[in-house]
Amino acid sequence: MIYFDNAATSWPKPPGVAEAMVHFMGAVGANPGRAAHRQAVESGRIVYGAREAVCELFRAPDPLRLVFGKNVTEALNLALRGLLRPGDHVVTSSMEHNAMMRPLRALEGKGVEVTVVGCSPQGVLDPADVEAAIRPNTRLVALNHASNVVGTLLPVAEVGAICRGRDLLLLADVAQTGGAYPVDVQADQIDLLGFTGHKSLGGPMGTGGLIVGERVDETQIEPLIRGGTGSRSEHEVQPDFLPDRCESGTPNVVGLAGLGMGVRWVLERGVDAIRAHEVALTQALIEGLQSLPGVTVYGALDPELQTATVSFNVAGMAPSEVGLCLDDEYGILCRVGLHCAPTAHKTLGTFPEGTVRFGLSAFNTMDEVEAALAAVDNLARGHV
Ligand SMILES: Cc1ncc(COP(=O)(O)O)c(C=O)c1O
Repeated sequence: MIYFDNAATSWPKPPGVAEAMVHFMGAVGANPGRAAHRQAVESGRIVYGAREAVCELFRAPDPLRLVFGKNVTEALNLALRGLLRPGDHVVTSSMEHNAMMRPLRALEGKGVEVTVVGCSPQGVLDPADVEAAIRPNTRLVALNHASNVVGTLLPVAEVGAICRGRDLLLLADVAQTGGAYPVDVQADQIDLLGFTGHKSLGGPMGTGGLIVGERVDETQIEPLIRGGTGSRSEHEVQPDFLPDRCESGTPNVVGLAGLGMGVRWVLERGVDAIRAHEVALTQALIEGLQSLPGVTVYGALDPELQTATVSFNVAGMAPSEVGLCLDDEYGILCRVGLHCAPTAHKTLGTFPEGTVRFGLSAFNTMDEVEAALAAVDNLARGHV
């Protein structure tokens, strides 16, 4: 079996991730921050260790300004619904995942103005177009760091510089880059960073979060939910400090045990080394697919300008048919269709059928890329 669905969720996970989760379940088990006994202290240590690891990876200076949640969808909802008010204007791109687009469209119905800046048919965003879209009431620019459909990197750092110059906030969705491409909240001037644990960070599903930069006044973030935090229990109102203001209820400590281990593996291996491996695989994949008759490859078509996610179609075959054949006949697992990003597919010219998407990870090999190319070649030539 060849697993090429890492853009949806990574598999396998790094060594030690499952063991850390089993260890928590078997040997710790207690609720963090709710009691002073040794198991609760150990549980709190595991959560704080995951905070520190994620902040080290993204160069975020204060682990207490990281709000853990279920995934990046929740993190983006917290940032957008928590900060934007009627009359505010937000600028986003036409390459966004629905995790960004749907909360924005819902906020539009509540008086928030939204401008979707168009990207090129390769998925490339021109920072000058973002700058031109800024209005006097613009509060936030909200972008993914890389497309989940074609992997194209968006110019987050350039837009970060524009935002600082105009006193605006930048929200970046690093679902596709975190752990696979360098992300530095300080150098890239990202004010709000949403991440998900289950892709290149190597963690399990059910983990993610939002890093809140110093330029964001946390008392202005409306929490998505309120409740017990283990702190200030004497008060009936929600604490106003982070992370407690936005982290209510018992956290997913078993998941965070795995996430902490996954991120530590990324730190040990090094993002630059992971990136170099993935660039080499992506280059071979793009060049190989482009050489096949009847195969159309989408996106920037340059491994340096994208992540290890490559979208293509085979002439005369629906993406779903290609995906089914690859699974049934060749044991190659991938994702087909619209990838929760209809606006991105409209930008690329692949709406409504979508594409076949190969999402590679640090664990894929050149042999797997070659086997996949041979399989697509067979399909394209009409031999299943
Ligand atoms: C760019 C991007 N944003 C958001 C998401 C949503 O991630 P999650 O389902 O973990 O919240 C994804 C996942 O596919 C993604 O690729």
